[in-house]
Amino acid sequence: MPVDFLSQLQQHWPFVTALPNCTLVSACFNQDALTPELVADCAIDLPKATSKRQAEFLAARLCARKALHIQTGLASLPTQQENSRIPLWPAQSCGSMSHSHSLAAALVGDSHTWQGLGIDIEKPLSPKRAQRLAKNILTTAEHDTYALLNSGQQAMYLTVVFSFKESLFKALNPLTARYFSFHDAQVLDLNVADSGHARLRLAKDLSRDWPAGSQLEGQFSQLHGSVITLVSIASRR
Ligand SMILES: CC(C)(COP(=O)(O)OP(=O)(O)OC[C@H]1O[C@@H](n2cnc3c(N)ncnc32)[C@H](O)[C@@H]1OP(=O)(O)O)[C@@H](O)C(=O)NCCC(=O)NCCS
Repeated sequence: MPVDFLSQLQQHWPFVTALPNCTLVSACFNQDALTPELVADCAIDLPKATSKRQAEFLAARLCARKALHIQTGLASLPTQQENSRIPLWPAQSCGSMSHSHSLAAALVGDSHTWQGLGIDIEKPLSPKRAQRLAKNILTTAEHDTYALLNSGQQAMYLTVVFSFKESLFKALNPLTARYFSFHDAQVLDLNVADSGHARLRLAKDLSRDWPAGSQLEGQFSQLHGSVITLVSIASRR
């Protein structure tokens, strides 16, 4: 195991409510420890890219490999759709990956139980950055909630909403093949100081199965000082 590159590689469940037939693995990674020997040892093809991009790609796949092994008992890896970054999971599995700064995580679920999963990790936005980004990320109703908070709470609210919308996109884009923007979904019932749960509602028709008004379940938590969010879509089978 490449101890210098990865640390704190662990299976754990950071969210309030456990989901059945799901495995989450996260790790911290050290970009400076990425070497050709390590890459050969891991037997994972890296994209031709900067070492930062290669390091985050590798760290997420090492988390995914461990999560898949725990979840399925098999040694396998996600591949990628041609011409996109949408991950393709081995048969009977679905999942999601995220990396942010030196943190990576992968969530794998049994596809009999889950049709879509999305996770996202974000470093908390500074109050100044939050103010700059708020209009781009928040719907009018979300902005009404945001306006009632103090500036520290606003920054955390915006970080969690942003992350939820990224998780939502990762859960739904593989199912619908439709692009949607930050104003096409709304986060409901979010109290960043409280429960760790929220709901998300689509404001745009994505497909027959995913019309405007559809609601999805979300959870959020902290991971090494960052925000981690999860959107889970149960299987219809
Ligand atoms: C795709 C996207 C969500 C990735 O998020 P990110 O913050 O850049 O990066 P993260 O580290 O959290 O996640 C990256 C991983 O997401 C996964 N991913 C990438 N595109 C994806 C897609 N279309 N569907 C599902 N998962 C995807 C990949 O596993 C990727 O890992 P890789 O880069 O190592 O291949 C983001 O880049 C994007 O395109 N967002 C615009 C659309 C959007 O968010 N709309 C808001 C909806 S309300």
